[in-house]
Parts: sequence; structure tokens; C-alpha cells
Amino acid sequence: MTFACVIHPSLRDGPSAQDPRNAEARLAEAVGLTEAIDVKVVLETVVRVDRRRPATLFGSGQVEQLASEIERAQVEVAVVDAQLSPVQQRNLERALKCKVIDRTGLILEIFGERARTKEGQLQVELAHLSYQRSRLVRSWTHLERQRGGFGFLGGPGESQLEIDRRLITDRITRLKRELDQVKRTRELHRSARRRVPFPVVALVGYTNAGKSTLFNHLTQAQVFARDLLFATLDPTMRRLELPSGLTVILSDTVGFISDLPTDLVAAFRATLEEVLEADLILHVRDIAHPDSESQRLSVLEVLSDLGVEAEGEGRQPVLEVLNKIDLLDSESREVLAAQAERRDDQVCVSAVEGMGLEALLAMVERRLQAGHRSVACSLDLANGEAIAWLYRHGQVTGRRDDEDQAHLTVSLDPADLERFRRRYGEAARIRGLRTR
Ligand code: GTP
Repeated sequence: MTFACVIHPSLRDGPSAQDPRNAEARLAEAVGLTEAIDVKVVLETVVRVDRRRPATLFGSGQVEQLASEIERAQVEVAVVDAQLSPVQQRNLERALKCKVIDRTGLILEIFGERARTKEGQLQVELAHLSYQRSRLVRSWTHLERQRGGFGFLGGPGESQLEIDRRLITDRITRLKRELDQVKRTRELHRSARRRVPFPVVALVGYTNAGKSTLFNHLTQAQVFARDLLFATLDPTMRRLELPSGLTVILSDTVGFISDLPTDLVAAFRATLEEVLEADLILHVRDIAHPDSESQRLSVLEVLSDLGVEAEGEGRQPVLEVLNKIDLLDSESREVLAAQAERRDDQVCVSAVEGMGLEALLAMVERRLQAGHRSVACSLDLANGEAIAWLYRHGQVTGRRDDEDQAHLTVSLDPADLERFRRRYGEAARIRGLRTR
């Protein structure tokens, strides 16, 4: 196991100065993120930085102190929870005698390990290479000078740095081509999915909140081998049947992280666009995490960057799934449960233990059907097309057939009801029942 240390520089103009969350909370978050890359954090510290030093970020006394602590704890990787310039990173590696990664590097590592789809993996690699290339370019002069010292090649010609840059650029071009291909396939999947008239429910949440555990728990019991269309969907999308028989598509997304570097936000936009198309968003939260509230704010920030508003006029409702309640003591669990009970947009669950999942499904069902109209509809049995249409678009809750007619009770979205009237209204007798 690799030993790591995490250093949060508390900068006067940095996030921990502006943010109501204090430096310790920031440090704890960075430690949590670092643990996600399978290293053992043996040292964690906040270092106050009044003035950024261009060469090492920290002051020279601070660097010396860090170096001796790092040596004592046998640290091999130091995570600096800030953006480092290439020069700072290199100088710190020399002074601390270990590998140094900054926040962007850390997040790239995490995403690299967790990318579940081909597209996600390609995007991470692309972001990684662009990051590396920018570092190469910016440290150009220094490396040139160093190389010049050896003087093997001399004169014009391709320096090692140019070769490196060219190799990276070639790889980036190839990756982009591959990514285009994957995107085209994905677009096909998407349009195939649009033809299937099922509502989409997207899971979002801070990294490690338990989205995938919940996704698997909810969908694993249901196997629809004969449904070929679903076999071709993205692996992060699965069909889920709700207790009433209503079918939805459940979509898992990449975990969110606070202060996501902007170029990464761009890289993941495509993946997150799925969220924009969802009918309902489930915000999965690790309620047992000490930083749970600020994680919630970070997720809402990313959502609002994407154009999804949590409250008010947003098109899709965002419901909260308070996960990991098994980790809470019984008192806090009761307080939370009572709070969730009073609200219709919150539910307490434990994805690993399967607690609260029925309540979750019931909440999803209620929301998706809010505004649905229940109608009684009589059609000729011979009109198979109209009957099939109702089964596809609505939820048939009752049916009685007599000699030549089918009498159906159906719950429909108002827009679908209007569509049905336009298409088959002449052949059908429709009576409104009640509004749910
Ligand atoms: P990202 O892939 O980073 O977005 O994470 P995620 O949100 O998909 O989280 P994941 O499902 O991978 O779960 C993260 C960790 O939390 C795993 O170790 C799970 O076993 C654990 N976990 C998930 N749900 C629960 C829960 O209800 N209770 C407990 N105790 N642990 C849970």
C-alpha cells in the first residue's frame, strides 16, 4: 500500500478563505478524495499560505518542515489540495523527495479509476493528456535549457520535448476520433431510447455517495433478457419496473466533486447531459458523512451549472435520497426519518442493506404520476393499434373485455391523453375519472 500525505494550503484568496467551510473541512474532504485512489493517508495537514511563492507555493520554512514530516512518515505521494503550476509541482517533488500531485491530478486519478463507460474512460484520458501537454509546454524553457546543457544534438532538429509534445498531440487526435465514434453510437442509443416512451430517472450525487450501489440494488433483481433494446443501452442505464408496473429507465452518472476544474467540467458535460434529459433526478447523499451538507451544496452547484435548478422553475423535480442511514445511531436516524416523512421530496435509505427502497420507489412513482389523468376508455377489440398505444404510453390499471369491446382504465400524462384523443378519439369513448 502506498503511503500518502494530504496538504491543504489555506490561501488568503483561496477557496477555504471565501468558503464558509473552514480549512479543516476542506482538508477532510481532500483526505476522503485521496483515499478513493487506494492509498493510505498517513499524514494530513493544513498549511497557511499568506503569499503564494511562484517557485514552491509554500514558504521555504514550510517546505522544509513538510519535507522532514514526509520523510519521517515514509510518504511516497503528496497531494496538494490546490492548483499547482508545473514549476511548483516539479520544485516540490525535488524538495519533498516524493511524487506530488495537485487537485486536478487527483481528480483525474479518481475519475480514471471510476469511469465506467468507454466514453468516460476516453474523456478522462483526453483530459489527462491535455493536462500533461499544458505542463510540457509551460515548462518548455526550463527543460530546453537543461537539454541544451548536454548538447548531443545541437542545432535545429526535434528536441525530446518536441517529440513528447508531438506524441501527446497525436494521441489526443486519435482519442478525439475514437470519442467521436463512441459519441455517435451513444447518440444512436439515445434516439433508440427516445422511441421507447419510458420516463428516465437519473441518479446524481457526490462521489462515493452510493449511487452505483443503489443502482445495482434496485435493478439487479430484474433481468429482461428478451428486451433486446435494453441490452444495447449504455451500461449505466437499466430498465426498472416500479411496483405499480410502471417502467422507467434508471440512469447512473459520474460522481460529482466540489471545485471541479473547468476543463474537467467540459469533459464531463457530455456524460452529464443525460441528466438534463431526465424526467426526474434523484440526488443520492451520504448522510453519514461529516461533510454531507457541503457535498449537497457542491452537487447543487454542478447541477445549476448544467442548467438544472433544484427548486422553483426547474423542469425536473430533484428528490433527495438520504443514503447510508445504517451508519447513523438510532437517535439521528429517527430524527431524519421523521423529517423525511414530513416532506414529499426526501426518503431515507440504506443501499447496502436494502432499507427504505420501497419508500423510494413509491416516491418516484408518486412524482412521475403527479398530474396524470385517469380515464376510462372503451375501444373496439379489433382496434389493436389504439389498445397497444395505451399500453405503451399509459399505465393500464384495469381492463374488462366484452364481446367486441375492451374497457380500459388508464392513467396518462395530460399531453399523452391529448395525443390519444387526436389520434384515436373518433374510435374511442373516453371518460375522465379523477385527477391524481
Ligand atoms: P462514484 O462512482 O464515485 O460516483 O461513487 P458512488 O456514488 O457510485 O458510490 P458507490 O456506490 O461506489 O459506493 C461508495 C461506497 O459506499 C462503497 O464502499 C459502498 O459499499 C458504500 N455504500 C454505499 N451505500 C451504502 C450504505 O447504504 N451504507 C453503507 N454503510 N455503505 C454504503
